[in-house]
Amino acid sequence: MHGVNGLNIKKIRSDFPLLAEWAYLDNAFVGVMPKQVKEGYEEYVDLWYRFSPPGDKTILQEWLTRTTRLRGKIAEFIKVKPNEIAFTMCTGSGLNIVVNGFTWRKGDNVVFPEWEHNVLYTNTTVRNHVESRVVHARDNRFELADIEKQIDDHTRLVQVSHVSYVNGDTMDLEAVSDMAHEHGAKVLVDATQAVGALDVDYTASGVDFVAVAPYKYLMGPTGLAFLYVREENIGELIPDRTGWKNQIYEGDNPEESVIEGSAEKFEYGTINFQGVFALEKAIDYLNQFGTKAIEKRNLKLAGYLYDELVSMGKEMYTPDTPTSPIVSYFEDDPLPLAAKLKAKKIKVTGREAHDGHMRISGHFYNTKEDINLLLEKLA
Ligand SMILES: Cc1ncc(COP(=O)(O)O)c(C=O)c1O
Repeated sequence: MHGVNGLNIKKIRSDFPLLAEWAYLDNAFVGVMPKQVKEGYEEYVDLWYRFSPPGDKTILQEWLTRTTRLRGKIAEFIKVKPNEIAFTMCTGSGLNIVVNGFTWRKGDNVVFPEWEHNVLYTNTTVRNHVESRVVHARDNRFELADIEKQIDDHTRLVQVSHVSYVNGDTMDLEAVSDMAHEHGAKVLVDATQAVGALDVDYTASGVDFVAVAPYKYLMGPTGLAFLYVREENIGELIPDRTGWKNQIYEGDNPEESVIEGSAEKFEYGTINFQGVFALEKAIDYLNQFGTKAIEKRNLKLAGYLYDELVSMGKEMYTPDTPTSPIVSYFEDDPLPLAAKLKAKKIKVTGREAHDGHMRISGHFYNTKEDINLLLEKLA
């Protein structure tokens, strides 16, 4: 039996035992783990515990086989090529690989909105005397015209979040790419709040680099993340960290060295293989439904929540009809309210920043009933 958008929500919810007890609406903080992802973690532990890779493979060969398979699946999921994906530790690692890999020139500048989670004002940009140009929000969003005004021929990088972790507003990545590329600047995207929640296509968007951590809308793991580097940028970017996996002198096994032209050159050592097992299960799980159906349901639920909050007279922080699952409204005492809701097994985020606001972030496994439970408590 299929329910909304061809998704059998009852069956889906049975994969997330936590949802039987909680109205969990806090995926922008941390996602809920389905049992399939837990099984991925367990498979890794069992394999190592029993030291039983299939056939005559070593355990490292099995880990690397899984990693290559996952690289392909991630590429397909975000619509890029496998050689454009590097595994990292977190969103910040991806950002650092890009910023530290640039050859900075005197007079360079970088442009980024004031609410970036990981700002481009880094040790590297400061040490290299790179000017940081901060774009300010107007009516709770970053206008393309304001971003464009800050870009000139000395701009090397423009950083934007695909989806704002503050109020869920989405950025028109194609427009930002066009305006940056016109001046020879590159575009670096933080897509940690987008991948898994929306149907993304980073080839079509034209952006240069995308950093993603999977523990929110991809539902696991932590400690493993990935960076997309558009093929034409791979050669230009110098690996900022080196180890056995990407040394210029390849040591005993030159045939195993990473080929130029692959983003794998940014991986320098043993990665979080347990995370690889977990993330592959997460991607397989989401692929059963498809990102288009997931996005559609997310926007429908967020739209319902937004409209209800508006009709209750809440002052909305999300600037318009939601374009992501995240919906925020202003609230004077966000922390006590979040704690009160948590005591009722309703999980959202209260943030004191930006004059205080509540951030509500469902995912496709949520229902109108979850939202109604929350709304009743907010009335
Ligand atoms: C937009 C965004 N980027 C990145 C992160 C996390 O960064 P990292 O993966 O470096 O810990 C968060 C976490 O809340 C986030 O909301």
